[in-house]
Amino acid sequence: MPTVGLGTFQIPLEKMNDVVGWAYSLGYRMFDTAWKYNNEGAIATALKYNGIKREDVFISTKCNADALFFGGCHAGKKGIFDIRNFKSAKKAIVTSFENLQTDYIDLFLVHWPWPIPIAQEFYMELVRLQKEGRIRAVGVCSALPPHLDAFKDVSDVVPAVNQFEISPLNTQKQLIKYCKDRGICVEAMSTFSHFRNTETRKDIVGNEKIAPIAERYGKSIPQIILRWLVQQGIVVIPKSSNKERLQENISIFDFSLTEDEMSIIDNLDQGKFLNYKPDVTLTKPCWFRGRVPKKYRGWQGFNEQ
Ligand SMILES: NC(=O)c1ccc[n+]([C@@H]2O[C@H](COP(=O)([O-])OP(=O)(O)OC[C@H]3O[C@@H](n4cnc5c(N)ncnc54)[C@H](OP(=O)(O)O)[C@@H]3O)[C@@H](O)[C@H]2O)c1
Repeated sequence: MPTVGLGTFQIPLEKMNDVVGWAYSLGYRMFDTAWKYNNEGAIATALKYNGIKREDVFISTKCNADALFFGGCHAGKKGIFDIRNFKSAKKAIVTSFENLQTDYIDLFLVHWPWPIPIAQEFYMELVRLQKEGRIRAVGVCSALPPHLDAFKDVSDVVPAVNQFEISPLNTQKQLIKYCKDRGICVEAMSTFSHFRNTETRKDIVGNEKIAPIAERYGKSIPQIILRWLVQQGIVVIPKSSNKERLQENISIFDFSLTEDEMSIIDNLDQGKFLNYKPDVTLTKPCWFRGRVPKKYRGWQGFNEQ
């Protein structure tokens, strides 16, 4: 699995051919997509358009409970809660293979661990496809210890990857350690702030405590942040549809941060989630699956254990 990949959420579809082509020529070999991004097909087209062979890239995608009952992300309000759209986890997963026009997927993630019984169904189906050789690695997203327990309850296959939000404002040290102790690779998402929190992006990409470090190495603040992650053994997937920023985000292997510099960034932690807070999935009932099974409720955070 490459250390740096391209996050593709919200790359405009009409720019996908260019962005994928630029990214590939700059050295990106991993593309992170999801059924819910409605761009799997555009990525398949862009790979073909740029003459990129399937075996030369690492494709990561995700299955989402929404796929079971959405007519599609863009089906409009009518399509969203129409139970007549209901399809099986298997069918939802197969859709990604069709969209991506591929026989195999390198990494297939459960997009969001809610509702837990559906996430478990997805997980079992992904493991089954892995055994058939159609998926190389199965992983999860935003999984806290109770979610990891829930996956363990239905399969003895340990997730290869847990993709979750990590940024200087949310360093996630305990969850990182928890995953690493179990041999789960950590992948950081929404590092420069999620689209719902673009204001906070300034506190990250313009962080005044990181600025002097960036100056010292002649690098940008985003490069220092990505380096801080990579130096912790974390895989990164920054999204950009801008050629210069694509170049910037992958040019992080010609310097290293000192322990003191790493600590300066570690100490910026505020536990601040820019994306959804994953612990809501342990309490929020699901309209078609009822309450969260009792054994997974009651997570109080690492400090409270
Ligand atoms: N599993 C999940 O639930 C989940 C959730 C969220 C995201 N993800 C995955 O993680 C990927 C990354 O997360 P994200 O898209 O939320 O956020 P992100 O990559 O942390 O941030 C993207 C934003 O930062 C800007 N940006 C990128 N590089 C920059 C740089 N060097 N300097 C300044 N600004 C820069 C981008 O603008 P420009 O495009 O204009 O450069 C874009 O607006 C996603 O694309 C997706 O693949 C997964």
